[in-house]
Amino acid sequence: MNANNRPFVFINMAMSADGKVSTVRREQLRISGAEDFERVDSLRASSDAIMVGIGTVLADNPSLTVKSAKRRKERVNSGLPENPVRVIVDSVARTPVESDILNVGTGRRIIAVSERAIVEDIDRLGAKADIMVCGKDEVDLEKLLYLLCSQGVKRLMVEGGGTLNWSLLCHGLVDEIYIYIGNMIIGGDSAPTPVGGTGFIRPDELLRLRLISMEELDEGVLLKWRVLQR
Ligand SMILES: NC(=O)c1ccc[n+]([C@@H]2O[C@H](COP(=O)([O-])OP(=O)(O)OC[C@H]3O[C@@H](n4cnc5c(N)ncnc54)[C@H](OP(=O)(O)O)[C@@H]3O)[C@@H](O)[C@H]2O)c1
Repeated sequence: MNANNRPFVFINMAMSADGKVSTVRREQLRISGAEDFERVDSLRASSDAIMVGIGTVLADNPSLTVKSAKRRKERVNSGLPENPVRVIVDSVARTPVESDILNVGTGRRIIAVSERAIVEDIDRLGAKADIMVCGKDEVDLEKLLYLLCSQGVKRLMVEGGGTLNWSLLCHGLVDEIYIYIGNMIIGGDSAPTPVGGTGFIRPDELLRLRLISMEELDEGVLLKWRVLQR
């Protein structure tokens, strides 16, 4: 637990050269290559938990498991579960029971819901995941991070999407951002970007970052940023 009673939180996303994370149809695309795939797998293996928004679960159906058998074995040898805890931010409990995140690979799943979720849906998902009720209308992310931290999550990887990223960033809940920029143009006014939401308006509201590193990877570039807390 750090001084803020929350885990170390980092966002990892891949975007095109024109700053889009998927198409206007919100369909997933392969933006990076094999080297970046290994980097992401290693980041997953180094995390206690991985968080995504329900929008990403519905659009991409990710499993968010550690893909390398060697890395899974290393985790087990150091007393950890094969896969990090997988956390879905889902106010009204609409995660499909058959989604890969709930069915592929071993390990604990948590679905964070708000008080708007109805008992039938909570019961439906309760067999596959632990349900945490936090927040009235939407998931209270600060509270969720506190609860995760109190349950041993010290390092949390966030894998999108832009709506969840925005909420975490504008509440000051993110420490670092890793963005892979791939060698393609996706285009489209409404294609999602790494950070959505309502956005900042005034120049003095903008969240400032400090560049940690810049690295060529596959056919693109990996940028690592530290978020400067206000
Ligand atoms: N290239 C990449 O690296 C990458 C990675 C991930 C996703 N993506 C793309 O991103 C898109 C999905 O992103 P998205 O922005 O639509 O969805 P998202 O960020 O994955 O999920 C957002 C949803 O989470 C729920 N939520 C509950 N509490 C919240 C809170 N406090 N703050 C924010 N959200 C909260 C809301 O739905 P409820 O109100 O129903 O709870 C909200 O609509 C897809 O196109 C996917 O392909 C790309």
